[in-house]
Amino acid sequence: MPPVLTETHDHVGLIRINRPERLNALNSDVIRRIVEAAEAFDADPDIRVIVLTGNEKAFAAGADIQELAESDVVQQLLSDRLTLWQRFQAVKIPIIAAVSGWCLGGGNELAMACDMIIASETARFGQPEINLGIMPGAGGTQRLVRAVGKAVAMEMALNSRFLTAYEALDYHLVNRVVPVELYLEEAMNLAASIARRAPLSVRHIKEAINQAFEAPLSQGLLDERRLFYLLFATEDMREGVRAFLEKRQPRWQGR
Ligand code: HXC
Repeated sequence: MPPVLTETHDHVGLIRINRPERLNALNSDVIRRIVEAAEAFDADPDIRVIVLTGNEKAFAAGADIQELAESDVVQQLLSDRLTLWQRFQAVKIPIIAAVSGWCLGGGNELAMACDMIIASETARFGQPEINLGIMPGAGGTQRLVRAVGKAVAMEMALNSRFLTAYEALDYHLVNRVVPVELYLEEAMNLAASIARRAPLSVRHIKEAINQAFEAPLSQGLLDERRLFYLLFATEDMREGVRAFLEKRQPRWQGR
């Protein structure tokens, strides 16, 4: 079985990490396949939202430690791993992580690189790289702080504190927590609901919200306003306001 599987469900693309014998540890091949699958869905006009998941036991238990053991500084510097993560971040349609079980190290960084996280009650989130004499290398010191705040991020990365699913909810790392048998269904339902909305608005909203982490407020507000103006050039905007005034459901075309 390939280590990354894809399926489509109407307008939703599902990516499953599939290395159960290694708790879905992310080696270079797996990361590349995830990114390529996400880009392929992004380029498919029929797909409007992506769900990324693992299995009940593990979303991903981090980077593949076997591969790390065989790596040296030159190999790390020359690898295109950073580019891969940037390509994942450049995906324009929303990505929802459906997380159950272990979500550690690079796995937690991957979940945080998604736009929303639906967690099962069994999910455990952590940045245990310190135990290996390394540190987070794909957002675990940056995105984590923005999500949970400095104090908790420090404790997770400096002292390998794992968060339960409900702690992750309290600290705003995840959107919601559901029983383990429902986490994927919940993520797919959320994805399907967003997929029914005006596609160009969805893309612009994702871009604008992510911009809030990149730019100062004045720049972010300007960028938001330009994206807002642009939507007035779309047929969907005309349809959306007309449908409201005519008291009917809009029919989105993505134009
Ligand atoms: C390679 C891994 C792995 C990993 C687990 N396995 N995590 N292999 N890389 N990250 C393997 C185990 O060696 C074992 O193989 C099998 O998966 C099952 O794991 P167990 O340890 O037996 O399971 P369990 O006792 O339930 O413990 C679960 C666990 C533990 C707490 C998640 O596996 C663990 O601590 N894993 C490492 C977590 C970690 O340190 N992650 C951060 C990696 S560094 P065998 O052959 O014995 O069955 C990182 C840096 C990111 O992520 C940098 C940017 C990308």
